[in-house]
Amino acid sequence: MDESILDIKNIRKDFPILTQTVYGKPLVYLDNAATTQKPLSVIRKIEEVYSTINANIHRGVHHLSQLATESHEEARKTVQHYIHAANSNEVIFTSGATESVNLVASSFCRSQCKPGDEIILTAMEHHANIIPWQIQRDITGIVLKVVPITEKGEIRLEDVEELISSKTKLISLAHVSNVLGTINPVAEIIQLGHNYNIPVMIDAAQSVQHIPIDVQALDCDFLVFSSHKMYGPTGVGILYGKENQLDKLPPYQGGGEMIAHVTFEKTTFNELPFKFEAGTPDYVGSTALAEAIRYIEKLGLENIRKQEDRLLHYATEKLLQIPGMQIIGTSGRKSSVISFLVGGIHPYDMGMLLDHLGIAVRTGHHCAQPLMDALGIEGTIRASFAFYNTEEEIDTLVAGIKRVAGMF
Ligand SMILES: Cc1ncc(COP(=O)(O)O)c(C=O)c1O
Repeated sequence: MDESILDIKNIRKDFPILTQTVYGKPLVYLDNAATTQKPLSVIRKIEEVYSTINANIHRGVHHLSQLATESHEEARKTVQHYIHAANSNEVIFTSGATESVNLVASSFCRSQCKPGDEIILTAMEHHANIIPWQIQRDITGIVLKVVPITEKGEIRLEDVEELISSKTKLISLAHVSNVLGTINPVAEIIQLGHNYNIPVMIDAAQSVQHIPIDVQALDCDFLVFSSHKMYGPTGVGILYGKENQLDKLPPYQGGGEMIAHVTFEKTTFNELPFKFEAGTPDYVGSTALAEAIRYIEKLGLENIRKQEDRLLHYATEKLLQIPGMQIIGTSGRKSSVISFLVGGIHPYDMGMLLDHLGIAVRTGHHCAQPLMDALGIEGTIRASFAFYNTEEEIDTLVAGIKRVAGMF
């Protein structure tokens, strides 16, 4: 196998948590699709903001408030450039991908849908891209249509097209499945939607840390993701929307900063992006997210992707040598997520016993119960890799699985 372009041994020193032991064993952290670990530069940035510039933003004329405001707005530009948005006012800070989807579902359905109108989702969506639409279905009477998946865990363009009708108002789907690892053909689906004048929203929670994203080249109408899955802090997320799409949406929440003028009779709203940022935003989190993006850019997203692809292929090959191994999701286009089952062993038992060997994997339905139903299973064990993982850690996982399997 080729040498990695990234110096992983040195890079791991940036992540203090990785040096821990769990039950006396070196931690093998393979739950990166749930959340990634944070480099020291991000951890220190949080301390730096609180130690040097902390003040509420936008509303203050004083020095610290101006510095904190600048920091938050600079962070917006950092995100803008990372996803290649045309304008920084198309970048809305939220509390996470979940809130971003809720915002769009609520504001879009309230303003643009009538009973019987249709939203298209896929069978592999995370609950975060299902439940907000169901809530709106119960309020506005919209209909949800679901694109099925193939045996390999892929979406076929013709199946999407089949569901499109004159009532389709929006298509919303994951770029990368958090269970199957499948990288969906989002550019083609966006193009397809646009052929029918249908806007498309991309859930990039599992892609933005692995795959370079250019929202202008993709031409998506909305795109959402979370900071904590891309080496940034928890509690911060992004909603990207094309300016003309965001302009059509009414505010999601009311409160400070999102207004132009308030009387008890009538309120007029602020312009983008502030219209969607009611209350004090997490300016510490946004600043730390910008630091995480700088960290990713320093390593190079292409280099990160190459390293993660190596890990995916190495792990797939090694795991398949284990008797009784069944990998769930066998698309040829995958990100570094592997779901699997071993013989008849319950995923929870496997996860618990691996934990005692210091190996952190996720087990269960991964917030994708409809997908589990479609696959006819209750859950899986999921190992998900970040660039800081190593082949040795994968060897430890494989040895751990064999050991656990031997107990049953
Ligand atoms: C594909 C996908 N979408 C959305 C989410 C929700 O992200 P968050 O919980 O950070 O809002 C997740 C989290 O696992 C995810 O994997």
